[in-house]
Amino acid sequence: MIFSTATAVSHPNIAFIKYWGNTDDALRLPQNGSISMNLAELTTRTMVTFDSSLPRDIFDLNGVRQSGPSLERVSQHLNLIRGIRGFSVPAHILSESNFPVGAGLASSAAAFAALTVAAVRTAGMEMSEKDLSRLARRGSGSAARSIPPGYVEWLPGSSDIDSYAVSIAPPEHWPLTDCIAIVEDAHKKTGSSEGHLLARTSPLQSARVADAGRRIDLCRNAIQKKDFDLLSQLIELDSNLLHAVAFTSNPPITYWLPQTLVLMQAVKDWRRAGIPCAFTIDAGPNVHVICESSATSIVKERLGAIPGVSEVLTSGAGGGTVLI
Ligand code: PMV
Repeated sequence: MIFSTATAVSHPNIAFIKYWGNTDDALRLPQNGSISMNLAELTTRTMVTFDSSLPRDIFDLNGVRQSGPSLERVSQHLNLIRGIRGFSVPAHILSESNFPVGAGLASSAAAFAALTVAAVRTAGMEMSEKDLSRLARRGSGSAARSIPPGYVEWLPGSSDIDSYAVSIAPPEHWPLTDCIAIVEDAHKKTGSSEGHLLARTSPLQSARVADAGRRIDLCRNAIQKKDFDLLSQLIELDSNLLHAVAFTSNPPITYWLPQTLVLMQAVKDWRRAGIPCAFTIDAGPNVHVICESSATSIVKERLGAIPGVSEVLTSGAGGGTVLI
């Protein structure tokens, strides 16, 4: 039976060990494994309705009807799901997020995780968490990590079959907070899909990838043992490695703004002064400050007082993608 409509809610995730570069771009098979935390307070809610009276797919994102690449990417992902089920009925996709889209807040992760879970259900299929993660990965690599709950590791694998994410600890295992200092919420200029393609042009990418297994093992341990000092060193190193690759790609990509560097320096100073916090930065200028939950209010207050920071979003560790 084909359900007419289904809605899923998903959360973006912040990567502690980051995904940057593919071994297979079409299948989005990553060059290295990655580890992230889902963000409870940031949500994307997506409703998918298959409707044979529609001439083509319709995609409304935060109340704005989409066209061009944004619609095409969603349609392409739905084609995969329609292909598995063996039908070609157009869909109406209605998606709402409560956070700025496209500013290094991994909006595509929550978007494709929610789209996958809602569309699979609407198409009348049941899938395991592993298969939903594999499928979400095809829409956006990091979406694979928004399917399972809490702290999540994406096993890179070597084929479509064995590249998926698993939970390594539930959200309540370690109450960390991500304080996100927004310095710009415009749409990013170089999307991550383009960044992944350019990664291989940097002479630093092979060194970053060669050392990734070591960082993954240490990060998994840091989470399991709740070792914040180790986690701090690792996430700042891993973020710097990604941006070193971006800076040295051809053409180079600069995601940071002057304010990004000011924030990085401030976070290091605060940590030296005893506040358990560390930075990590995705494909945008905004700075994610990961802290122990006891430090959330002081970190939020200090970030908000830095000139150029327009807003500070906060979130604890969250669950996976669920149908509602
Ligand atoms: O899933 P994508 O293609 O948007 O790539 C995500 C890239 C980073 O956010 C920079 C890193 C990561 O692992 O989330």
